[in-house]
Amino acid sequence: MRGKIFFNHKNLKIIKDDVLLTDEISNDSIDLIVTSPPYNIDIKYNSHDDQITYEKYLEFSYKWLSRCFDWLKDDGRLCLNIPLDKNKGGQQSVGADLTTIAKKIGFKYHSTIIWNEGNISRRTAWGSWLSASAPYVIAPVELILVLYKKDWKKNNKKQSDITKTEFIEWTNGLWTFHGQSKKGAGGHPAPFPIELPKRCIKLFSYVDDVVLDPFMGSGSTMIAAILNNRTSVGIEIDDEYCDIAKKRIIEEAKLLNKKLPARAVKMKVC
Ligand SMILES: C[S@@+](CC[C@H](N)C(=O)[O-])C[C@H]1O[C@@H](n2cnc3c(N)ncnc32)[C@H](O)[C@@H]1O
Repeated sequence: MRGKIFFNHKNLKIIKDDVLLTDEISNDSIDLIVTSPPYNIDIKYNSHDDQITYEKYLEFSYKWLSRCFDWLKDDGRLCLNIPLDKNKGGQQSVGADLTTIAKKIGFKYHSTIIWNEGNISRRTAWGSWLSASAPYVIAPVELILVLYKKDWKKNNKKQSDITKTEFIEWTNGLWTFHGQSKKGAGGHPAPFPIELPKRCIKLFSYVDDVVLDPFMGSGSTMIAAILNNRTSVGIEIDDEYCDIAKKRIIEEAKLLNKKLPARAVKMKVC
């Protein structure tokens, strides 16, 4: 058996495994997936090559998105944080291409949130400086694609915990907040801020729902899920990042003092 439960505490589970191979998650068991996959922009991860051909990157995306599709319940949703486009190693329409792949798999499209992080660090070149010959344009934004498996409307009436102010602000699909420093996320090379999964979780899931991040990294989605009383599952291929996530969860989600909901996650036991 290849399953590896790295950390398991009440309704929280870290699976140290490959998202393409793990057998730890049952089909039709997840309410919401919030994730940010590797962007293929040559980030120096410990256990993942982030500089493959674009064709191979799209193949990888097809495979992991297919797994997510199977894991979601019929009314399950996916919030997918990806770049709008990239210019490093050749111009590519990443957001449009991953939307097309997800739709081929069977996902339905709901909307796209633009995350304005005000960061132009991804800019690597101007192209032709002060000339129309071949200038580069890059937007300092990322996308959060909102997709779902079968039914957008949830018919089971459960508890929502979003406030009026949050609902009004967050249903405007232009979100503005800063990115997350590596230092503040235990040294992980590409974390997103907890604000991002927090908004997705409160807007798109009910209290006690099961939230998965198949590219857990430093555990940001899990922290947001625990702080908002959801069951939380993370998959991460790298040992060191699992360790970082476990430490962050214990500290930032005040895990050991917190009474977690009693509902059990429908998941295979290794
Ligand atoms: C963009 S980072 C996610 C960061 C996360 N959102 C956070 O806030 O820390 C992508 C993560 O996916 C992990 N990863 C890459 N390939 C994987 C695979 N096949 N299975 C599981 N995890 C993988 C990397 O090790 C990396 O930590």
